[in-house]
Amino acid sequence: GGEDDLAHRPPVVTVMGHVDHGKTRLLDALRNANVGDKEAGGITQHIGAYQVTTEVDGSERPITFIDTPGHEAFTAMRARGAQATDIAILVVAADDGVMPQTVEALNHAKAAGVPIVVAVNKIDKEQADPTKVRGQLSEYGLVPEEYGGDTMFVDVSAKAGLHLDKLLEAVVLTADASLDLRANPNMDAQGLVVEAHLDRGRGPVATILVQRGTLRVGDSIVAGPAHGRVRAMLDEYGNELEVAEPSRPAMVLGLSSVPGAGQNFIVVEDDRMARQIAEKREARERAAMQAKRRV
Ligand code: GTP
Ligand code: NA
Ligand code: MG
Repeated sequence: GGEDDLAHRPPVVTVMGHVDHGKTRLLDALRNANVGDKEAGGITQHIGAYQVTTEVDGSERPITFIDTPGHEAFTAMRARGAQATDIAILVVAADDGVMPQTVEALNHAKAAGVPIVVAVNKIDKEQADPTKVRGQLSEYGLVPEEYGGDTMFVDVSAKAGLHLDKLLEAVVLTADASLDLRANPNMDAQGLVVEAHLDRGRGPVATILVQRGTLRVGDSIVAGPAHGRVRAMLDEYGNELEVAEPSRPAMVLGLSSVPGAGQNFIVVEDDRMARQIAEKREARERAAMQAKRRV
């Protein structure tokens, strides 16, 4: 396929913000706000990334969330030069207001050129002052649309489940207004490892994000220094996937070892080649480690 194979893909979103402002709770709440939840059986798996579908103007719009503890994986990915995120949701607790890590997070997003949607969280609390948050963030260049700026602010409560649909809609509108998100699905897959761990029963399990191409069960892949054939792929409900298209996160089984967060993966011709490339990468990493030790 060539350039003309480019197809729309869902936005990939990271949630950032100060400690305890509600990032984890919001990610959990959004996961449960998925309109598809009921059909799928409702019980979501805790994997490093998931997709929800929301309805905007009568059409179903998927959004991919990278669900990482703190900003560790995001920072690891950035350090490796991997740009995984299209949009950042900046969570600010309405009772606490802008704090040092709020500013750090917004600077990260700005440096990466990633548009920001502000979620003013904990509006269920008596001390909540969402107007104050708007004023504070305006000083950092995030001026709310209602003040004539171009940043969407949504007042939410992750705890009470308030206005989560509005937040999802703001993400879709921000993507439509400022991003042209397309990728070629008609090629061998490439993407990123979001997180990985060793599972007692299943062996190495990696949550990957497909960025280009389509990943299929049976594909031979190299992921960082790991390799293998994709034995199975699971979505956020634990359902088996046959294919994973651009912006689709999936749990991949079948790797030889556990790759690191932020490492990239590629599909190669066959197992033999996968092993060769993986071994080269491993040798290179070992040499780099030894060089570092000598300094
Ligand atoms: P770190 O990962 O430690 O940085 O924190 P976090 O940003 O993920 O915050 P977390 O989701 O752990 O929430 C921190 C605390 O705030 C928890 O006790 C939550 O239950 C609470 N909390 C989160 N969202 C809300 C909300 O909308 N309203 C209220 N009242 N409490 C909330
Ligand atoms: Na916390
Ligand atoms: Mg958290």
